[in-house]
Amino acid sequence: MRTTTGFSFLSLALFSINLWSQDQNKPVVIAVDAAHPGAAISRSMFGVFFEDINFGADGGLYPELVKNRSFEFQDPLTGWHQDLGISKTGLANPRGEISIRMEAPLYQSNPHYLNVRVYEPGYSFWNSGFRGMGVADGAEYRFSAYVRSHGAKAIRATVTDENGREIGSGKLEGFGAQWKRYETVIRTRATTQHARLNLYFDEPGALDLDMVSLFPVDTWKHRENGLRKDLVQLLYDMHPGFLRFPGGCIVEGRQLATRYRWKTTVGDIAQRRTIINRWNDEFDFRPAPDYFQSFGLGFYEYFQLAEDIGAKPLPILNCGMACEFNTNETAALDQLDEYVRDALDLIEFANGPVDSPWGKIRAQMGHPAPFHLTMIGVGNEQWGPHYVERYKIFAAALKAKHPEIKLVVAAGPAPAGEPFESMWTTWRQLKADIVDEHYYMGPEWFLSNTSRYDHYDRSGPKVFAGEYAAQTAGTTSAENRNNWKAAIAEAAFMTGLERNGDVVEMASYAPLMAHVDAWQWKPDEIWFDNLRSYGTPNYYVQKLFANNAGTRTVPVTMQGEPMLYSSATLDEGSHELVVKVINHWAHARPAEIRLNGINVSGTVKVTTLEADPQAENSFDHPTAVAPAASTADVRSGKITTELRPYSVTVYRVPLQNQTAGLR
Ligand code: AHR
Repeated sequence: MRTTTGFSFLSLALFSINLWSQDQNKPVVIAVDAAHPGAAISRSMFGVFFEDINFGADGGLYPELVKNRSFEFQDPLTGWHQDLGISKTGLANPRGEISIRMEAPLYQSNPHYLNVRVYEPGYSFWNSGFRGMGVADGAEYRFSAYVRSHGAKAIRATVTDENGREIGSGKLEGFGAQWKRYETVIRTRATTQHARLNLYFDEPGALDLDMVSLFPVDTWKHRENGLRKDLVQLLYDMHPGFLRFPGGCIVEGRQLATRYRWKTTVGDIAQRRTIINRWNDEFDFRPAPDYFQSFGLGFYEYFQLAEDIGAKPLPILNCGMACEFNTNETAALDQLDEYVRDALDLIEFANGPVDSPWGKIRAQMGHPAPFHLTMIGVGNEQWGPHYVERYKIFAAALKAKHPEIKLVVAAGPAPAGEPFESMWTTWRQLKADIVDEHYYMGPEWFLSNTSRYDHYDRSGPKVFAGEYAAQTAGTTSAENRNNWKAAIAEAAFMTGLERNGDVVEMASYAPLMAHVDAWQWKPDEIWFDNLRSYGTPNYYVQKLFANNAGTRTVPVTMQGEPMLYSSATLDEGSHELVVKVINHWAHARPAEIRLNGINVSGTVKVTTLEADPQAENSFDHPTAVAPAASTADVRSGKITTELRPYSVTVYRVPLQNQTAGLR
């Protein structure tokens, strides 16, 4: 009896395995209702979220090499060093000394400066940069400073490598008794990640120094005060639909006093007020005491960046609330005027005529044409009744004056439960425009939430999947990886965003950038060091979706197929049908993509991303996981193909001469 039962179980199991493997060999049928395109999809669906976290701005996208150039860090000598010895009076350099002063500063908004006293020729001190300075062989760097002389005549600057070898030099001279900016260009003769800038004084005398800068000449679009070329190029290549800036929690600040105030980030860079970066001391396991915001990359530069990369600008503004995970400080309701004024003035700064007060500042900065702002975020990751009260005041003022501007509101930090549910109930009642959802969840969550938006109310607010990233170890864990396991799960989820493109207006991975030696948060879409950068597998998924977004959804079905995910769109611009299929099986699957209702034949462009789940990119292998291009045949509306193991594949089917049913 036992033998018989055992035999029965065994044969049943073998029979099921047999059936299963036969099933695996049967072509998967992906039925695309090509003749019946559905709703319009937002043209700016897949975008980027930029925050100054992980040294993303200062030390990253903003390529100033001098750290604490304006002596405004909490410890005003942070980043500045000199050789000290024991003298009669204590620890000192007998040749000279440096000290911080505040009398008659360059600008009241930048009140500290460096007083230099030279007693003997050869006095020097140096700046160590952001974890060193990255300089390249043959490249040019603009060395500049504001100087007020008390007798000293010249500053000799050298750039040295990590072994102290001089690899470039320049000189500033002819100083007067009033603050004035001087500059020269230094060409470096070697490539190093860890250079430093040394300032030498060859004659006794004294002077005051401020805004000491070493800035690459070769920036994106060759702009002075421009952005780091390789990093902007990665963004540009994505063709992102929008650029969200400046964050993130950085908008809120740990306290309201250190919130992001856009007005202090525009105009002359020497007058922009440096403040602490809220990621400076957020995580005990990743302290960054030298993390401040110079605002060299400010709101003008963000708008310009958005324009450069073809993205719609999406600024997020503080709504009178500091980070609810930190102090939870709120501005009293009768003190909100300044915050609301900031929002109204921002619209004028972005879109106003050149003779309006803020439009004039935009024009003076070099951009008389408007930046075409169409939306603003009111608060970042807020929630609760305090938020709703403040939103109502913002909405009343903004909608009265600018009904054309859409307002983005938050649904809290998590994708379900409380406060997510009550925030959504409120936003539906208040008929909010766009609701920002955040999900920092495990890869499994992304795989099991691909139909999350299938049943969202089409008549309610639109959705902005404003911050998401699969966390392989746990939210904010230092062990999180930017591997293919995370990226393919995000891709599967994104098919759900795309299929629901009528309700999901925008989506962005977060955070965007991280310095390998100075990060606070993992995972991140793009990693960089002082000279190099690479896109993660997650970047390539984002890029693939952004480069292959359509303008209308197209219905697609796969009967009873677990671990396979798909979406289809019509691109009315290029007149192509775009089909995306994700195979999450560890083995290849034969497939038939049936383009029902159209009788198209020809060649289809195919792009495939495939990798082992643990695969990652790195500086040495930046494209270990990267898209590969190929072609496939479409015959009478059918593509017979093979879905590679753990793969994301995009098929672009040209519809020239094929108009049946497509309007
Ligand atoms: O992306 C990192 C942080 O995650 C953002 O600043 C914040 O909005 C969210 O909590």
